[in-house]
Amino acid sequence: MASTHTAYDWITERISMSLESGIGRHLWEGGRRYHVYREGRYSLPNDELEQQREELMHILVMDILDQKLFLAPMTEPPQKVMDLATGIGLWAIEMGDRYPDTNILGLDLSPIQPTSLTNGVRRVPPNVTFQVDDVEDTWVHDDDYDFIHMREACGYMRSTPTVIESAIAHLKPGGWLELQEFHWVAEKEDGTIDPNIPVNRYMDHMMSAAASTEGRKIPIVPEIGDIMKQAGFVDIEKKTYRVPYGPWPKDSVSRRRGAVFSVNAELLLPTSDKMLGHIGLTPEQAESLYSDCVKMFHDSSIHCYATYYVWYGRKPDEATDEADR
Ligand SMILES: C[S@@+](CC[C@H](N)C(=O)[O-])C[C@H]1O[C@@H](n2cnc3c(N)ncnc32)[C@H](O)[C@@H]1O
Repeated sequence: MASTHTAYDWITERISMSLESGIGRHLWEGGRRYHVYREGRYSLPNDELEQQREELMHILVMDILDQKLFLAPMTEPPQKVMDLATGIGLWAIEMGDRYPDTNILGLDLSPIQPTSLTNGVRRVPPNVTFQVDDVEDTWVHDDDYDFIHMREACGYMRSTPTVIESAIAHLKPGGWLELQEFHWVAEKEDGTIDPNIPVNRYMDHMMSAAASTEGRKIPIVPEIGDIMKQAGFVDIEKKTYRVPYGPWPKDSVSRRRGAVFSVNAELLLPTSDKMLGHIGLTPEQAESLYSDCVKMFHDSSIHCYATYYVWYGRKPDEATDEADR
């Protein structure tokens, strides 16, 4: 764990942040709005446009998973759930609606979740709570969660292993962790990877930027299972789904997913300006790379896929798992 914060430091910091109204403020740069709490930790904006992109991504992911919110094979509805890096909180809100007896806590660096009452309409179920928090810090949350979930956030963590270690420490024995994430590296229909296609060139630059400026490793998605195993999880499973880059497939379901995914990607690309600037790409070079990617999404002769990964695993139940050995 990077930070040595105690619970006392954590509370004092939050009190002073709220006194300065720091948690509710945002930063503006280049016409986009960014989080202020732990400034600079997350490179993407948190403004209206980014929130719309997140909503689109939520709709796409729900489509890919046949409207399932999770795949972990829990036999009973969980009682206590945490959603790490909850964003605009759509997953947490839908969990709250579907499981009214479950308590759900959503954590994020940005206060962009709806408040309980918006124009007099209740938008957050009473069993859902949101907190501004950095999930890479020492956790001061309870250690009896049944289910911890994180979606589309591993790629932005400085240390995914640290977050996974915190998760296992805060799950009940027998509790589940589920991580869901797009893997952007584009594969051809036969599974091979052409490094020259625009989206793979873009990924190559993003990997260098993440590694050289923040010491982060991306893409980390295919390795999540190994990291979970090292942290002590058992019954680890992986499910993968191919998602087309662009609306080129003939069947209507894949075409729909490809169309939505490419719109999502088009919105995401320009948020990389800062990262690419760090490794020396000029705004013009970055713009030209984005435009090559967009052309690729619209070129129906290029048949490539991204992959959506779902990883889940269980914290061992000491008594039962020992007896099974
Ligand atoms: C791409 S959004 C995904 C949002 C949401 N999980 C979803 O699937 O709709 C990534 C989110 O991770 C949050 N985030 C990134 N690093 C974080 C950290 N260290 N602690 C808390 N939240 C973080 C960002 O603020 C952003 O809202």
